[in-house]
Amino acid sequence: MATYKRIVILTGAGLSAESGLSTFRDKGGIWAKHRIEDVATPAAFARDPESVLEFYNTRRKGARGVKPNAAHEALARLEADFPGDLTTVTQNIDPLHEKAGTKNLIHMHGEILKALCAHCGAKKPWEEDITIDQVCGACNKDGGMRPDVVWFGEMPYRMEEIYAALGRCDLFISIGTSGNVYPAAGFVAEARAAHAHTVELNLEPSEGISMFAEAIHGKATQVVPAYVDRLLNS
Ligand code: APR
Repeated sequence: MATYKRIVILTGAGLSAESGLSTFRDKGGIWAKHRIEDVATPAAFARDPESVLEFYNTRRKGARGVKPNAAHEALARLEADFPGDLTTVTQNIDPLHEKAGTKNLIHMHGEILKALCAHCGAKKPWEEDITIDQVCGACNKDGGMRPDVVWFGEMPYRMEEIYAALGRCDLFISIGTSGNVYPAAGFVAEARAAHAHTVELNLEPSEGISMFAEAIHGKATQVVPAYVDRLLNS
C-alpha cells in the first residue's frame, strides 16, 4: 500500500448503523417512515414546528443512548496514529465520532446535541427535548429554537474548509454513505481532481461507485478496522 500524507474521510449513516441508529434510505430506514417535506425542510418547520421538533426529539434520545462501534474506534485510532494530516467529515448528526475520540472532525450536516435559534442564529449544546415555547437565551424570543441540523435546501457547514482539505488530499475514504445527497456525493470527484486515491468502504456499492479507484464492501465494523490496520502497517 502506498504511503499517504493527507487523508480525508467522509462518513455517513452506515457507519452508525451497527451502533443501533437507523440509516435513511435502506429498507425500513428513516425516509421510509417519514416524508422529508414533513420533517427536514425550513418550510416544514414554518408550517408544523411541533411535528418537526418531535421528530428530532426522538432522534436526540436515540443518539444519546448509543455507543460508538469498532468502526468509529478504528477511525479514531487512525487519526491518533497516522503521522500525516487527517480530516474527518461526517454527514452524521450523532456524537459517536467524538465519543470514540476523533478530534479533527467536521459535522457538515450539524449536530443533534446542539440547538439553534432561528431568530438570532445563537447555538448551544442541548441534550433535552426542544419545545416550541422554548425561549432563546440570547435574543429572549420563543418559537425559534430548532435542532442545529442542516435541512434540505440549507447550506451545509464549513464547506470552504472541506473543499480545501479535498483539494490537497492524497487519499479519500468514503464510509457508510449511499452517495445520494450533494454536496457530499460530489466529494469523490473533488478528490480525484486532486489526483488522490479514492476508496469506498460500504455495505454495498453506492450511487457513486464508478468514481472510486478501490472499493471494499461489507459491514463497517469489519471492513473499517481491517482497512485502518492495512494503512497503519504499510
Ligand atoms: N456498514 C457499512 N455500510 C452500511 C451499513 C453497515 N453496517 N449499513 C448500511 N450501510 C450503507 C448502505 O448500504 C447505504 O449505502 O450505508 C449507506 C447509508 O445510506 P443513506 O441511508 O442514504 O445515508 P447517508 O448516505 O448518510 O445519507 C446522506 O442524506 O438524508 C440525508 O442528511 C441526511 O446525512 C444524510 C444524507
